[in-house]
Amino acid sequence: MKLNKTQPIGVFDSGIGGLTVANAVSKLLPNEQIIYFGDTAHLPYGDKSSRAIKQYSYMIADFLLEKKCKAIIIACNTASSIAYTFLKELYKDDLYIVDAIQPVINGVCQDDSVRKIGIIGTQVTIQSEVYEKRFKAQKPDLEVVSLATPLLVPMIEAGNFNDEMSESILKSYLLRKEFEDIDALVLGCTHYPLIKKDILKVLNRDVKVFDNTDFVAREVELDLRRLYLLADKKNQADEFYVSDYTDTFEKTTKIFYGEKIHLELCNIWKNS
Ligand code: DGL
Repeated sequence: MKLNKTQPIGVFDSGIGGLTVANAVSKLLPNEQIIYFGDTAHLPYGDKSSRAIKQYSYMIADFLLEKKCKAIIIACNTASSIAYTFLKELYKDDLYIVDAIQPVINGVCQDDSVRKIGIIGTQVTIQSEVYEKRFKAQKPDLEVVSLATPLLVPMIEAGNFNDEMSESILKSYLLRKEFEDIDALVLGCTHYPLIKKDILKVLNRDVKVFDNTDFVAREVELDLRRLYLLADKKNQADEFYVSDYTDTFEKTTKIFYGEKIHLELCNIWKNS
């Protein structure tokens, strides 16, 4: 299929987390039109089966393809760990696909000051061991400790941050023995940058915090440039779709992304 630089970039996640990536892409590449899909009907992905996550990711990718996207960013570590290889193979002739994980792995591996790193993510991401495996392949000397932090996504989606509850949950996750001597931490879930300040406050020491956002945006820029697919001018406004709509979701979205977002309900599952 012949792709054109004026086509939009599709970005998806289970909820608002992927907006952290969409935001970074928009800032770096202001000429690009973004089409965002938050699969709020199935949130959280972090405790779903691989089969379900593959199915959701496939339906969303198909929706974004119908919207004529030239590229898809899987702005979700959980979906990236389960469905990236499958989607990349499936759509290899149709569009460009990038996951949330590899760009941050490359970023960490280039930083020689990092010797022991902590990874936090959803149950599915941590159980998949995707970070450990890729670090082991690229930087075998790096010591890696991982922890599933399943309460964080519902907490963020419900708008609990910078309060007593979030502080106590973060303390119980981060102030543990395994993490005592890490010199870096990967936020292995695209929701977590939304509470980066809270995380830094709880860690309260010199730990480098890596997240997917800017690494993914830079990778997209490099790849689209290489493919001659970078847009010269923004012709259409960004579009934001969710598969289920709640007031809380809209409120939280506005806090993090600003008033300009108009969420459109789009149930792509109704015929499945
Ligand atoms: N933002 C998704 C991720 O990066 C959240 C997963 C979820 O819905 O549990 O993993």
